[in-house]
Amino acid sequence: MRSLRFGLPLVSLFTGVALLFTAPAAHAADTPLRDLAAAKGKVIGTAVTGSKLTGTYGDLAGSQFSSLTPGNAMKWGTVEPTQGTFNWTEADQIVAFAQAHGQQVRGHTLVWHSQNPGWLTNGTWTSAQLSSLLQNHISTEVGRYKGKIAAWDVVNEPFNEDGSYRSTLWYNGLGSDYIANALTWAHAADPDAKLYINDYNVEGVNAKSTALYNLVKSLKAAGVPIDGVGLQAHLVLGQVPATLQQNIQRFADLGVDVAITELDVRMALPADSTKLAQQKADFKSVVAACVAVSRCVNVTVWGFTDSDSWVDSTFPGYGAATPYDANYAPKPAYYGISEALGGTTTTPPPTGACTAAYSVSSQWNTGFTGQVTISCSGASLSSWKATWTYGAGQQITQAWNAVCTQSGAAVSCTNASYNGTVADGSSVSFGFNAAWSGSNPVPAVTLSPA
Ligand code: XIL
Repeated sequence: MRSLRFGLPLVSLFTGVALLFTAPAAHAADTPLRDLAAAKGKVIGTAVTGSKLTGTYGDLAGSQFSSLTPGNAMKWGTVEPTQGTFNWTEADQIVAFAQAHGQQVRGHTLVWHSQNPGWLTNGTWTSAQLSSLLQNHISTEVGRYKGKIAAWDVVNEPFNEDGSYRSTLWYNGLGSDYIANALTWAHAADPDAKLYINDYNVEGVNAKSTALYNLVKSLKAAGVPIDGVGLQAHLVLGQVPATLQQNIQRFADLGVDVAITELDVRMALPADSTKLAQQKADFKSVVAACVAVSRCVNVTVWGFTDSDSWVDSTFPGYGAATPYDANYAPKPAYYGISEALGGTTTTPPPTGACTAAYSVSSQWNTGFTGQVTISCSGASLSSWKATWTYGAGQQITQAWNAVCTQSGAAVSCTNASYNGTVADGSSVSFGFNAAWSGSNPVPAVTLSPA
């Protein structure tokens, strides 16, 4: 920590953070997920936001994953917000990033009931017009990226939970033939891209996945180009379907590939170490089910960091659904994926941490007021002791919400009778007044149970 100089922001001068029981911040020693996956003949992917592909987000997206799916960039509403006016900026950026990092791209998605442009959904179209709009859209988008897309989610979410066709712009206007036609048009535009139908709640054997199974079977029998099914896998903590592997296998036995296309495991917030351990088990069992079936070719997570997940805004009260936390630290779930891919963890999986942050809240000629905040995430304390050594003769004169003693430069503060417990996800603070002269450098605080 630098010593006191005038003219710099107070916050950078007067704060310090000590870590207790933390996992290492970087896990460079662990084999990247994409290398583990490759050794198993699998592809591991993530949904991404194009504008975030720099810094740590870009480093992790590029180094850990062998496939990228644009989270929104290739949806119709993004690429053609006004009829005839195209915006390929983010999609192009993601494709270029993937090519620079030796990654596949999963195109997502061509025919869906959601995230369509207003001009399309608000228009009044005859069946013939609707059909030609769809054909043009598919030809234009698939054609633009011909040779650059490993697999397209051609049709997204065509079914209701009971296995009937969802009532959509497409089904209502064109009947169920829209599915075969979309696949045929996509194949014409890029014969090398693998073509998928993608849906949610089709991970286990159930009415919806059976409808998908029957559709794929009839498409294959009719000679329609269908290469795979995407199981989105937006899962709830502890609810991986017991029939996941069996379901993957039955599609494989039909002669199509299977991909887990949008894996996340949401939990009621706040996260705690028990939930994070269950989430690790859930990610591990999903990836293991894919590893167990040779035609399961790809597992893609729907955002790799909790700072880039659709869950928090879509399912109020739920979150923490991805393998990395919002600060890009790998969560237990990351190690669940790694272990299912045959990785041996060379650094201990993080079990959470408690940290102590020292700050000076006000300072005058001869004295200052400081405080230390002890916070726990994925860990907890039932008593605590914060110690530090002052480097410039500072002397504590009074403390509150802790019992502090100072001997020479060494300060030791233990919890008061009423605030020794720091629960997972919570914090406790104590304060003090002290004297200083000359300079007032921030000390390094060591935190331990008392
Ligand atoms: C989500 C995106 O992640 C969000 O950013 C957007 O606001 C809504 O769509 N099933 C899908 C994905 O097939 O396209 C959805 O993506 C999540 C559910």
